[in-house]
Formats: sequence, C-alpha cells, structure tokens
Amino acid sequence: WAVDNLADAANGDAARAGCGGVSCGDAVVDAGVPAVPQVAMIDQRALPSELVEIRTSDWRQVVDAVKTLAVRGAPAIGVAGAAAVMLAAYELAERGAPAASTAAALFAVRLREAARVIAEARPTAVNLSWGVNRAIQVAAGALKAGKTPRQTAEALRELTGDLIVEDEAINRAVGAHGAAPLAPIAAAKERPLTILTHCNAGSLATAFYGTALGVVYAAAEQGLVERVYADETRPVGQGARLTVWELSRAGVPATLICDNMAASLMAAGRIDAVVVGADRIAANGDAANKIGTLGVAVLAHHFGVPFYVAAPESTRDNACATGADIPIEERDAAEVLAHPIEGVEVFNPAFDVTPAALITAIITEKGVWHPGS
Ligand code: MRU
Repeated sequence: WAVDNLADAANGDAARAGCGGVSCGDAVVDAGVPAVPQVAMIDQRALPSELVEIRTSDWRQVVDAVKTLAVRGAPAIGVAGAAAVMLAAYELAERGAPAASTAAALFAVRLREAARVIAEARPTAVNLSWGVNRAIQVAAGALKAGKTPRQTAEALRELTGDLIVEDEAINRAVGAHGAAPLAPIAAAKERPLTILTHCNAGSLATAFYGTALGVVYAAAEQGLVERVYADETRPVGQGARLTVWELSRAGVPATLICDNMAASLMAAGRIDAVVVGADRIAANGDAANKIGTLGVAVLAHHFGVPFYVAAPESTRDNACATGADIPIEERDAAEVLAHPIEGVEVFNPAFDVTPAALITAIITEKGVWHPGS
C-alpha cells in the first residue's frame, strides 16, 4: 500500500475522475485552456454506484452543486467557491459594458453580487466564504492594477489552479502532522491501530488527499493503520457512500458501521483513536463538523479514546469566539424522511459542535494544537 499511487493517480483530469486510487479532484480547471474554463467536479450524489463528473462554465451550476451536495466537504467547497467567482468573472467580462471607462467599475459591482450569492450557498463551512474572499481579493487587486475584466478573470483562473495545488499540499502536511501523535499510540500497543472516522473528510471532500483521511493515508503509509471504521453518517450517508468507497480504492482496510454502533465498539476496546474533519473551528477550539460528531466525541471521552480533529487553517474562524457563534445549517426534511408523514415534523441540522474540552488535539498544516490545555 503506498500513497504514491494516489499521487500518480492525480496526474491529469482522467485520473482525477477515478482511474486510480482516490483521485477525486472536486473543482479543477480544464487543462485544455478553453476560452471560458470549465470547472470539473465529481458528482458525489451518484457515488458509490456511479462515477459521474459535472463539467460546467456556469457559476450558477457550481452554486447548485454546492447546495445539493454534488460537491461537498469544507475544503472542496472552498475551492469550488473561488472557481465559481472565476466563472462569474468570465461571464461578466464577456458581457462587457457600454463604455470601457465604466466597464471595470460595473464588472466589480456585478462580481461582488455574484460572490455574495456563491458565499451564501451553504452557511456552516467557513472555507466557502474563505475561498470566495480569496477570489474577490485577487479580483480587486487586478482591477486596481488596471487590468481589464477579461484579464481579471484570467487572474482568477490562475488563482483557482493555485488553490487546488495548495489544498493538496496543505492536506499532505495535515496528514504528516496527524500521523505523528498516532505513532506512539501504536508503539505502546505494539500493533497498528484501528481508527474511527465520521462523515467523509477525504480526497472527495478536498481538492485531493483529504484532511482526516489525509491523516489516515499518512499513517497507513507508515504502517500505523490496521483498519478504519467508518460511521454510516445519517442522514446523507457520507460514510456509507463515500468514505468506505474512497478507502477501498486506496487499499486501506475499511469496515462500515451504523452510527449507533460506535459505543459498543469502543466499549469492547476495538477503537484506538478517532479522527474527524471540521467545517469551522472557533477561536477557543470548539469545532463544528457533520452531525453526529459530538456523540462520537462524548463516547471517546467516556471510553478514554483519543479524539483528533484534522483541518486546514482556513477552517479556523477567529470571528467566532466559541462554537455557539457558528451558524448551523438546517437541511431539507426529505433527507431524513423520504416520504412525509402527516403530522410529523423533521429536524435536520447538518452539523454539530464538539467542545474543545472533548478534543485531544486539532491538527492543521501548521502542527498539532491542544485547545483544552
Ligand atoms: O455536509 P457535508 O457533507 O459537506 O459535511 C462535510 C463534513 O462535515 C466533513 O466532515 C467536513 O467538511 C470536513 S471535510 C474535509
């Protein structure tokens, strides 16, 4: 088993679309340099039965893909957000304005309007507005430097490509930092570890490689991983549909469990560590992640199992003092109850917040942070 295979698989769109390993580029600019670039995203709604790619030059379709979870996972929607701003810039540059002198000003106003719509596609993962803001900053800089709208769109295209490369590098650094605390645990147990994860924080959820699964891949490369247990992750099934699919393609032994089985596994001493991703981390270390993560953290605390959160620095939001400030997305009832029952209401929050006190360490590309200490 070698992560290098995954890197090889990442060379080129075809491979990213699934020819090898977990080659899951979620928001890539078409390599063919068309007049208006295309963004390519794996349609995660179709997995694991079908590997379908969405390709579009329409920023509204990217927004729709984010809203409908075709592209999902905090870092992936961050890149998709920046890519959507790029597509909006191309569209607006094509449209032009009556006079060249007003073109740039009108372009800037319209681009900000589109950016607002893109950033509002989903509220919890701060990476989305982070990606949109990075794009808006680049656009503002280009326009200030006297670039035309078309040249500004091209600068955004370059940014999108850079963000994809940057995200993979960040995830590999997160993976390396995250494998470090696992090594002494494996050494003490004198065997590779069993790791529980919740939701999908893998290659699919990022441009490539993953955050929580990035830790798994880095640790597996060092012989530290015996098996990954993946929570099914009701109601959307990111664990059941995506995580085990991705792990099996990477050659990491994976066992799917229902969300209500983690307690009995921990009670039986069958989980050595928990590693999850995050959608937004408050200044005090409280971390929002997929609904159900809090329950896993409480269990881990009870059974003395280390609980790690792996995420890029872009997931930290110091504007949120604590987890109570993090907006929690509520999604459609149909995700929980396919056929409505008269008189029955459905509550479907997509995320919960794990308090810092339950987190053993937060792992970012910069290193390992112990928020409770
Ligand atoms: O609603 P989703 O599927 O976008 O939620 C994703 C998660 O909660 C992930 O665990 C989180 O974004 C980390 S992804 C690296």
